Amino acid sequence: MEAMMSGFGDMGKTMMCAQEDSFDETRGGTHSLADQVARFAKAKKDNNARYLDITTVYDGSSLKGKRVLVTGGEQNLGLELMKEIASVIPGIDVTKDEAMATLVAGVAEPVDMVINNAGYFYGPAESVGAGENEGHLNFAQELLMIDICSVGPLRVSSALFKAGKIKEKVIIITSQAGSRRWRLTQNPPGSLDTSNPFTGNYGHHMSRASCNIMGVILSQELKPANVSVQLAHPASAARR
Ligand SMILES: NC(=O)c1ccc[n+]([C@@H]2O[C@H](COP(=O)([O-])OP(=O)(O)OC[C@H]3O[C@@H](n4cnc5c(N)ncnc54)[C@H](OP(=O)(O)O)[C@@H]3O)[C@@H](O)[C@H]2O)c1
Repeated sequence: MEAMMSGFGDMGKTMMCAQEDSFDETRGGTHSLADQVARFAKAKKDNNARYLDITTVYDGSSLKGKRVLVTGGEQNLGLELMKEIASVIPGIDVTKDEAMATLVAGVAEPVDMVINNAGYFYGPAESVGAGENEGHLNFAQELLMIDICSVGPLRVSSALFKAGKIKEKVIIITSQAGSRRWRLTQNPPGSLDTSNPFTGNYGHHMSRASCNIMGVILSQELKPANVSVQLAHPASAARR
């Protein structure tokens, strides 16, 4: 795979499944469990290689020779996605409309696929809070997360598509954190407390819910052009 990377700053600075209870894998269905802690425990119990060691079931040979543009490719998941970096397009901030012309100009030949990986997670847990448990909400950070994680992939993908620079596929690295069912499964009513790292985090979850419906709409719009749109949840990995 020949990869291009767009970045931010100086250097350039499993699929989401709509789940029904009757379809999850504890009931013989094919959809993964919404509860990721239970999902991992079950995978260990079943010695399920699909979850425990993706390399035993994944064949990446179809990517051989493909040109791929990855946003946010300087670290962690984005960096891991690229074995070979062909070129870097510096200075691409996915929140900036004006950066899209630079991005499009930097992609000389159309790419086979775009992987929208750039993302941002505001650290402090957000919650409304009441009484003794004073909450913390940061609306500016919430809007920033929505801009980077939801509007960003649309901004990038639409600019490249309209310029005729995407041949096959748009992949959006999103999160099951945008799923209402996941939220209610992982954080059932009454479970919220400030020691729970999943407490609140309004901006993160709102940004991914918005991202997920954006991806569905984008897939409808690009389908006639034979460009598919795929939403991917990368599971949980330590952030920087
Ligand atoms: N890690 C997890 O457990 C997890 C779970 C679910 C979903 N995800 C999603 O998977 C993706 C990768 O996760 P990760 O943990 O590898 O993320 P990460 O370590 O936070 O890396 C995100 C990348 O996005 C770039 N970025 C941030 N804001 C940007 C902007 N405005 N314009 C362009 N690039 C920008 C960052 O560059 P700078 O450092 O220069 O800002 C960085 O290279 C993210 O979209 C994340 O939301 C991760």
